Amino acid sequence: MFNFSTVDQELADAVSNAFHDAYPDQLPDTISFSVVKTGDARHGDYQCNDAMGLAKVLRMAPRQIAEAVVESLERHPSIASVEVAGPGFLNFRLDSSWLSERLLQVEAEGHGGVPHVGDGRTVIIDYSSPNVAKPMHIGHIRSTVIGNALDRLHRRLGYRVIADNHLGDWGTQFGLILMGYRNFLNEEALEASPVEELERVYVKSASRSKEDESWLEAARNELVKLQQGDEENRKLWRMFVELSLKEFNKIYSRLDVRFDLERGESYYNDALPGVLERLDSAGLLVESEGAQVVDLEEEKLGVCIVRKRDGGFNYATTDLATVFSRTDEFSPETILYVTDERQQRHFKQFFTVVEKLGVKVDLRHVWFGLMRLPDATFSTRDGNVIKLEALLDEAETRARAMVDASSPEMPEEQKQDVARAVGMGAIKYADLSQNPQSLVTFTWEKAMALDGNSAPYLQYAHARIRSVLDKHAVQFPDDDVMEHPFAVAEPLERLLMLKLIQFPESVIAATRNYRPNLLADYLFDLAQTYSTYHQSIPFLKAEDGIRESRMRLIRQVAGVLREGLNLLGIETPDRI
Ligand code: ARG
Repeated sequence: MFNFSTVDQELADAVSNAFHDAYPDQLPDTISFSVVKTGDARHGDYQCNDAMGLAKVLRMAPRQIAEAVVESLERHPSIASVEVAGPGFLNFRLDSSWLSERLLQVEAEGHGGVPHVGDGRTVIIDYSSPNVAKPMHIGHIRSTVIGNALDRLHRRLGYRVIADNHLGDWGTQFGLILMGYRNFLNEEALEASPVEELERVYVKSASRSKEDESWLEAARNELVKLQQGDEENRKLWRMFVELSLKEFNKIYSRLDVRFDLERGESYYNDALPGVLERLDSAGLLVESEGAQVVDLEEEKLGVCIVRKRDGGFNYATTDLATVFSRTDEFSPETILYVTDERQQRHFKQFFTVVEKLGVKVDLRHVWFGLMRLPDATFSTRDGNVIKLEALLDEAETRARAMVDASSPEMPEEQKQDVARAVGMGAIKYADLSQNPQSLVTFTWEKAMALDGNSAPYLQYAHARIRSVLDKHAVQFPDDDVMEHPFAVAEPLERLLMLKLIQFPESVIAATRNYRPNLLADYLFDLAQTYSTYHQSIPFLKAEDGIRESRMRLIRQVAGVLREGLNLLGIETPDRI
């Protein structure tokens, strides 16, 4: 296991020690120091802004405060020089031989040197979670793609991850679906596209129920029968679940997404009465207009309904039962719920109830904004539901056209593989490269841009390095790159090394902030730096010794691109 910390952490520790040495007994106990990457390389590699915050405590000018730690910081093995700038910034330049030493360790360790900061910790990630008998929509793809990236990131950091697909497979809609199925079913359509047909009969049944009171009554009866275990209704319900899962699984396999658990809402059905008992004995249950609720007025969250007037349980009741079951069985430190922003209130409410019950677990709603798909996104579009499959198909078709143009000589099978990797990568990256909480407008131009911040651009950068390495192996079969140090002859080489050792920081930041886009930004930056290097520095024509060093360096760049994209669920074919 990797036992050294990230560079920013190591520097922050050094700064902390230096300040404590310079100002013994004068610093507040609660103080912590942090160091960040500089935005502008002219100011050094990292900077610390904490001297400014100390002016009041120490009653000194910030520049003067900072000056006092320069000398001791410069003795730190990782630091070449420290400069006090502006009102009192500390700017650090890392030592080049320390950089290459560090990169050697990273290379030996593999996986880009990401430390196992999550060892011994369990996180449950509740993501994707589509509803049975309804096609997955664009919100579910975002949950699937973002949730899966968080899943991969946590695993890489050593967490024990339990990925749970909390399917919406229970609830009031099933009464209507049963009625629709029995009265409006088109067998052929069910055969051809089961989930679409189930949704169609549901929609028809739902609209009938709005005009026809007796229809609604009948649907309620069917639901009660289902809940009481009526054999016929159970059988149909199981079939709806199976048909839906079959279709969802096609999408999961295209997106290379796997779950550890697929416990739908129905899994918790028997535990629902117990939730009410537990709330009751904690004195939290009150009656309101015939329903059973938990009063959250004090928290300005209204009331959380746990049992409706008609006796039925609610979405929140199931989520409470789910937390109890998960904490009992897995003792997680954290549970993440990945859904769109419209569910914020629901999660705030039920998190508050869990807290009131004194259950110790860190619950987080990782919400994302909506994604806009302009009308022009699809060449064919039937109805107004945007189906996920259509989006994935279109991505592969467009990627295939790209591959046909760039590598006409590639064997057919390989072309298909590459088109799939590029198409799925483009869809995922378009999502993951944005701040999840902003409104995203999807366009194919952006998603597929070979010259912009896109998966194809990054995949291409990776493939380009692979091809240089292959050429090198052919032209210089006797070169052994491992016998040479990493190259630091050129400023760009130093910059590449610096960026390479910053990979773990970006993985940790993306994970801790639940923002995979922080990793995407890093990878794009690395790929751009490589691209400049590629254009301005000779590789295969470089002299003996230098050539091997450069190969070793770019091999490490390819490795980090591959590792990083993999954490986003994106493949890196060797050729594009
Ligand atoms: N099935 C829900 C939906 O499609 C999402 C479920 C999210 N997870 C949860 N534990 N509530 O909106």
